Amino acid sequence: MKKLIYLVAGARPNFMKIAPIIRELKRRKMQFDFKLVHTGQHYDTGMSGVFFKELAIPEPDYYLDVSGGTQAEQVAKIMVRFETICTNKKPDIVLVVGDVNSTLACAIVAKKLQICLVHVEAGLRSGDQKMPEEINRIVTDSITDIFFVTEQSALENLRKEGHAQDDIHFVGNVMIDNLLYQLKQLEAGSVQFTCSEKLKGEHKKYGVVTIHRPGNVDNLDHLALVVKILNEISEKIPLIFPIHPRTRKNLEGSGIAISQNIIQLDPLSYMDFLNLVRDAKFICTDSGGIQDETTVLGIPCLTFRNSTERPVTVEKGTNLLVPLQIESINQEIDRILKGDSKKGVIPKFWDGEASARILDILLQKNLV
Ligand code: UD1
Repeated sequence: MKKLIYLVAGARPNFMKIAPIIRELKRRKMQFDFKLVHTGQHYDTGMSGVFFKELAIPEPDYYLDVSGGTQAEQVAKIMVRFETICTNKKPDIVLVVGDVNSTLACAIVAKKLQICLVHVEAGLRSGDQKMPEEINRIVTDSITDIFFVTEQSALENLRKEGHAQDDIHFVGNVMIDNLLYQLKQLEAGSVQFTCSEKLKGEHKKYGVVTIHRPGNVDNLDHLALVVKILNEISEKIPLIFPIHPRTRKNLEGSGIAISQNIIQLDPLSYMDFLNLVRDAKFICTDSGGIQDETTVLGIPCLTFRNSTERPVTVEKGTNLLVPLQIESINQEIDRILKGDSKKGVIPKFWDGEASARILDILLQKNLV
C-alpha cells in the first residue's frame, strides 16, 4: 500500500520548500500518494498565486481559506478546517515545513489525531522567543515524530531537547533544492520577468532590501530607524525594496519618509527576486530563508537582527548579523562596495538533493 502524505503550505516562505518535495514525489509516483493543503495564510496573488505558477506547484487539493486575522484567529481557523480534512480521509503522514503559523496549527492537529508528523527544517532555534516563528518552531518540534534538519546546529538543538537520535535526519536544505532548480531555469533563459530585467538595465549596481519581521516593523520607532539606515545606505548605492504587506501597512500614515534613492516595489515573484538578488552587491534583510539563499549565491547578506536560527550562514556563509547601528552598518557597506566582503562556503548537503533524501528515509521507515 502506498503511503498517503498531506503536505502543508500556507505562507510565502513555505512555497519554495514544498515545491521541490512535490517534484520529487511526482518523480516517484509509484511510491507515495500525496495531497497538497494550502491554508490560505497568505492569499494575495503576489504573496501566493505567483509562486504556485512559477514554482510549478499544482493546484492545492484543499484550500482552507483562512486569510488574515490575528495569529490566534489564524491558528484556530486552520486547526478546525485541517482537522475536518484529516478526519474525512486520514493520511499516513502530515508533512509540515518551516516555522509559520500554518506549520504550528497543522502540526497540532496531526499529532492529536495520531498521524505521523514530519517536520522539514526542524530544530532551528534563534533563542529569541519574541519572534512568533521561534514559538512555532519549539512547539512543532516538541510533538514531531520525524525531524529533517538543514544544519548541524539543528541536530544538536533537538538532541539537547531530548529527541531520539534515530528520529533526527540531517538531509540538507529543501529551499536550496528549489534555488538550484530555479537558477537552472533562469540560466536556460526561458523565464518571463515583470520588472527585474528593466531595473537591472537602469541600475548597474544596486542593493536589495526585504524587511518584514514584527520586531523591525511593528514598532514605529524601530521602523523609523530601519528606514533611516536604509536612506543613508541609499546615498552610496541605489536600493531596490519590494515591500511586504505587513511593512506596507505599518508605513502607511506613519510619516516615515523613504528616500527617492530607494526603489519601492510590491512583493516580487520568486524569479524576479532571484534575478535581482543574484546580481546585487548585497542584500539587507530580516528574512530567514534569504540568509540561506544568499549563502549559496555568494551574495553578502546583512541581516538586521540580533540572532539567527541559521547559524551556519554566519559561520560558513556570507551572512552577517547587524544590530541597528548606523555607523557599523555603514562600515560594512563600505567594505562590500570596496570588494572586501565576507566570503563563504556552501554548507554540507545544500546540494539540491535534500528532497530525495527525505523521501528515501520516509520510504525506509516502518510507519504505523
Ligand atoms: C509570515 C510568517 C513569517 C514569514 C512571512 C513571509 C508567521 C508567524 N510569520 O509573516 O515567518 O517570514 O510570513 O511573508 O507565520 N497579508 C496580506 N496579504 C497576504 C498575506 C498577508 O495583506 O497575502 C497581510 C495580513 O493580512 C497581515 C500581514 O500581512 O495583516 C501579515 O501577515 P501574516 O500572515 O500574519 O504574517 P507575516 O508577517 O506575513
